[in-house]
Amino acid sequence: MSGGKRAVVLGGRSGLLGRALCEALTAAGWEALPVGRSDFDPFDQGKLRDHCREHEASAIFNTVAYTAVDKAEDDRDEACRLNRNLPRLIGLTARELAVPLVHYSTDFVFDGRKDAPYTPEDKPSPESVYGQTKLAGEQVLFEIDSPGLLVIRTSWLFGPGKENFVSKILHLAKERDKLSVVADQTGSPTYTPDLAVNSVLLLESGASGLFHLCSSGKATWCELAAEAIKLAGLRCRVEPITSAEWPAKAKRPRYSVLDLDKFTHATGATPRPWEQGLRDYVFRDLGLTEHDD
Ligand SMILES: NC(=O)c1ccc[n+]([C@@H]2O[C@H](COP(=O)([O-])OP(=O)(O)OC[C@H]3O[C@@H](n4cnc5c(N)ncnc54)[C@H](OP(=O)(O)O)[C@@H]3O)[C@@H](O)[C@H]2O)c1
Repeated sequence: MSGGKRAVVLGGRSGLLGRALCEALTAAGWEALPVGRSDFDPFDQGKLRDHCREHEASAIFNTVAYTAVDKAEDDRDEACRLNRNLPRLIGLTARELAVPLVHYSTDFVFDGRKDAPYTPEDKPSPESVYGQTKLAGEQVLFEIDSPGLLVIRTSWLFGPGKENFVSKILHLAKERDKLSVVADQTGSPTYTPDLAVNSVLLLESGASGLFHLCSSGKATWCELAAEAIKLAGLRCRVEPITSAEWPAKAKRPRYSVLDLDKFTHATGATPRPWEQGLRDYVFRDLGLTEHDD
């Protein structure tokens, strides 16, 4: 394998994180090679191997996943196909080619019963099909144990290029004078460009294994929504409600803040607070104007 900095990014053409990764890789002097459905089916192991060989890829990032958390409850087979079986195939390919694989997992592998940030050593106990299939994906990758394997658990993504919780809230807040948002789930909101830059840093540090990586800090969905609406200067009121008042098919953790110490230890870097990422998202990416009140 060539020593050049070329990374195949599965999900890099259309995914929320995949797109941010391509930008971060390029900015860090890598050649990003995004792969989407129109290029080839990621389940086609031969095509993936040939593509990596042809482009002399020195890393593979996998952001392809079944991410519809509620839908997964009724669609376990497809969620399992994307969240467990696909990582297995990609892991086998990475091992055969001897290139590091960076794969993403989720805070939803935890049941949320802890009340201090979750470390990578904490025992996962997912309560949703999405969380269970993502955990199965992690486990199968560690069984394959390809050289330089990085499994990165992240959480609550927002950022440019694709609809996400924050963009949906801002859209609704323009049309309504009141929004009810869940206030009894606490997590780590994460700005995708920051996650992408830090993922590249982690890869370049030569680290391998399981890491937690998100923006610093914590919030409830309600706090995240209120902060976004405030920054955007919208006059919509945010009313806190409980999860019971907003019934969802999949059970979500009450608390899933991730501990970032292992990442900081490996790289010497500390991710920025989510509030700073949110400002960049609202003012730079969405182009809204800063206001004074
Ligand atoms: N979003 C979050 O809040 C969050 C939180 C924690 C962890 N994560 C993890 O972070 C990673 C990235 O998440 P994300 O939000 O960036 O995901 P995303 O925006 O939903 O992107 C998923 C990517 O997978 C592709 N994909 C889905 N099904 C496919 C299929 N059958 N064949 C080929 N491609 C397929 C999609 O392509 P199309 O656009 O063509 O469908 C898209 O490019 C995932 O591993 C996810 O589990 C996300």
